[in-house]
Amino acid sequence: MREEALHQLSTWAEPFDRDRLVGVYRPLPVRDAQPVLAALDAHLASLLTDSTRSVKRAVLRAVEEFKFTAASPRILALMSDPSEDGEVRAEALGVLSDFDDPKLLEAVALAGASNAPELRMATLPILARLSPKQALPILTLMAETGSAAEQQASFTAIADLADPAAADLLAAGLKRLLAGEVPYLAQVELLDAAEASEFPVVQTAFADLQAHWTVHGDTLAPYRGALEGGDARKGWRLFNQHPVLACTHCHKANGEGGEAGPDLSDIAERTSSEYIRESIIDPNAAIAPGFDVVAFTLSDGGYFAGTIAEETPEKIVIWDAAGTKQEIDPAKVLDRAAAPSSMPPIFGLVLKRSEMRDLMAFMKTLKPGDPIGQSDDGEGETATRATHGE
Ligand code: HEC
Repeated sequence: MREEALHQLSTWAEPFDRDRLVGVYRPLPVRDAQPVLAALDAHLASLLTDSTRSVKRAVLRAVEEFKFTAASPRILALMSDPSEDGEVRAEALGVLSDFDDPKLLEAVALAGASNAPELRMATLPILARLSPKQALPILTLMAETGSAAEQQASFTAIADLADPAAADLLAAGLKRLLAGEVPYLAQVELLDAAEASEFPVVQTAFADLQAHWTVHGDTLAPYRGALEGGDARKGWRLFNQHPVLACTHCHKANGEGGEAGPDLSDIAERTSSEYIRESIIDPNAAIAPGFDVVAFTLSDGGYFAGTIAEETPEKIVIWDAAGTKQEIDPAKVLDRAAAPSSMPPIFGLVLKRSEMRDLMAFMKTLKPGDPIGQSDDGEGETATRATHGE
């Protein structure tokens, strides 16, 4: 319960639209951060020393969110403690970087020499930002010979470097990907970085890769890395709040949502990750039962396509591709024919691969009856429920 309280702390100023416990829509007004800062100030020392790993991470998140820079010396001490968990130390370094702390370079040097891999990796994007010249040799080594997680971290850092040497690294990475030598986990960062790059060497290598995929008819290849390692919490946000077309516009997932598409509350139990990914990237590959799309041509020149919501001799009601109900007069129907899925095939274009991976991680948490199916902090825990005790 302490952790839940801390999470509430970190989302206090701008809380989620959904109440975390019951998952119903309950927008909260933006509140005053002052009491939270006072509470943090009073308990910081004990929270950062005598608590579990996830409480420490929640505290760090709150400190970052509230830009509570007075906590910096304690955060630095936490990051420097070799007996502390590597991920906690990495997160502490992230807070110092976010604050542009005067001791940041010192902290990065210490972190880079530590024996915690998570902490060493967390130095990469910071080093790339502060000192590209120093970062490049380390990034090269990690991109070419590192573990999957190290390659992932180095491609993320390389993406932020507007340097021709960094572009060469990306181009070389794409060639290795074509040769099947880049682990799935790191492919996502590599491809997202390559796609955003404006350097011709990268664009050429990327075009070669795409040509290879096209020749082999491999539409899912660009998303091969999306099945593992996503952040379910970010995925939850995309699912509910994607600016272009939120999935909840047409789908329910243990809460309210549209009805134009199938209820996804039990999708993880019902289907495989590969199926979910394919449904999002290429909705026409398999149409969910009961959601066949019918196209109607009308005598007045009108044309409608969608899934049938209701059909009687007097009226036909369909859900169209915008997730809106349309009513058709059966007397006017000249022709009806099977048509492509009404789930728009645009998500492969509007979602970055890393977003697709986060969305997948969220979808995999969906189980019937789970209030929001939302992972609490990316550690694979499902939504915190109202439990007693602790
Ligand atoms: C405009 C409405 C619409 C939007 C927006 C939409 N979908 Fe769909 N979705 C559908 C329809 C209709 C189907 C059923 C037809 C089909 O299988 O293609 C479907 C099918 C699916 C399926 C397969 C379900 C099953 O039971 O087989 C998944 C998974 C899915 N959508 C996920 C998503 C996700 C994730 C998003 C957001 C990124 C999204 N959809 C956005 C309309 C929509």
